[in-house]
Amino acid sequence: MADKKDDCKQGPSTKAVHGGEPRSKALDAITTPIAQTSTYTFANTQELCDHFEHRIERQEYGRYGNPTQRVAEEKLAALDCAEDGLLFSSGMAAITTTLFAMLSRGSHVVVTDDAYRRTRQFLNQTLRRYGVEVSTAPAGDYERIEEAVRPNTRLIFSESPTNPYNRVLDLEKLVAIAQKKRVKTIIDSTFATPINQRPIEFGVDLVIHSATKYLGGHNDLLAGAVVGSSALVSGIRDLQAITGAVPDPFAAYLLIRGVKTLALRVARQNQNAEAIADFLDAHPKVEVVHYPSLATHPEHEIAKRQMSGYGGVISFEVKGDIDATSRLVDACGIPRIAPSLGGVESLIEQPALMSFYELSTEERLQVGIKDNLVRYSVGVEDADDLVADLAQALDRV
Ligand SMILES: Cc1ncc(COP(=O)(O)O)c(C=O)c1O
Repeated sequence: MADKKDDCKQGPSTKAVHGGEPRSKALDAITTPIAQTSTYTFANTQELCDHFEHRIERQEYGRYGNPTQRVAEEKLAALDCAEDGLLFSSGMAAITTTLFAMLSRGSHVVVTDDAYRRTRQFLNQTLRRYGVEVSTAPAGDYERIEEAVRPNTRLIFSESPTNPYNRVLDLEKLVAIAQKKRVKTIIDSTFATPINQRPIEFGVDLVIHSATKYLGGHNDLLAGAVVGSSALVSGIRDLQAITGAVPDPFAAYLLIRGVKTLALRVARQNQNAEAIADFLDAHPKVEVVHYPSLATHPEHEIAKRQMSGYGGVISFEVKGDIDATSRLVDACGIPRIAPSLGGVESLIEQPALMSFYELSTEERLQVGIKDNLVRYSVGVEDADDLVADLAQALDRV
């Protein structure tokens, strides 16, 4: 494997292309081969014993690791400047396995209030059933976050930027609280990617990504990752070997391939999103735009300091009701209506009628989801085309 220290000195574009990849590969191929196998053979019993006694390094069985998966893990760890990484079958598999590994009956976790719906459900419903205590504190209110920490608190979990409102956590402040209280921090950095933000550099303990989004980047794979210290990641790996939420070798290959262009894609998505956010911000039919490049965003200054780009997801509220908002979504000619985000194709959705469909308006408001909210995941198309398309769609509202 490539030298980790060198990996960390290099720029993110170089790491995206070369990070984690051995210089010399099987058959002198330039691409990392797909080890499409579920199990690995031993020449004889001596080799088996050498493996279990750690005298040799090799694979054993697909649930315990795969060489293609390993290269993807090393690449993601390099990008986030982490010691180690672990790949999963989805972002939710990364989140659930990590939280199961870090928490136990009677322990307590503090989570911030804007987050992907399934993460909230896992924390507030599933983990509670297993006797884990969960407190929710407002993203951005550091007094409330600190007050929520109890003697049995093990960790503080937050997204940054958050889904769907793009709240940006002050990672320095969050880490200072966690260190004072001796608890661990986990940041779901899916929206930012390691190109725009590297929470490990701020002292965050573990970083999670839904690799389905920007890291894969082409809406053609599901994967998740956690990166952090070798000690923490190895405890999570031990649980993954039991629970089995492992990625397919082909998904790992697609991920490696996707990450090679991560820096280029994210730079373009940052640019496109800033242009669209400026257009929406000035539009009379738009109530408010939730995007951190805007001076009106509550954490604009934090984002400016902490991130090198503001990301590719814009949320905005249309001046109008649920139907007027649907008219806008339906009138868009370039972005496709779909869940997910981060790929090269622009996607648009109305969270009230996508992730939160089965809830009533009142139930949705309780979790902060307004009927007139739109989430736009900006792709790599031409900004002028995307803006012109939104302009004609807003005319129909
Ligand atoms: C911020 C965030 N984290 C985690 C996930 C879950 O990832 P996956 O769909 O790969 O399980 C999502 C999915 O939308 C997300 O937006």
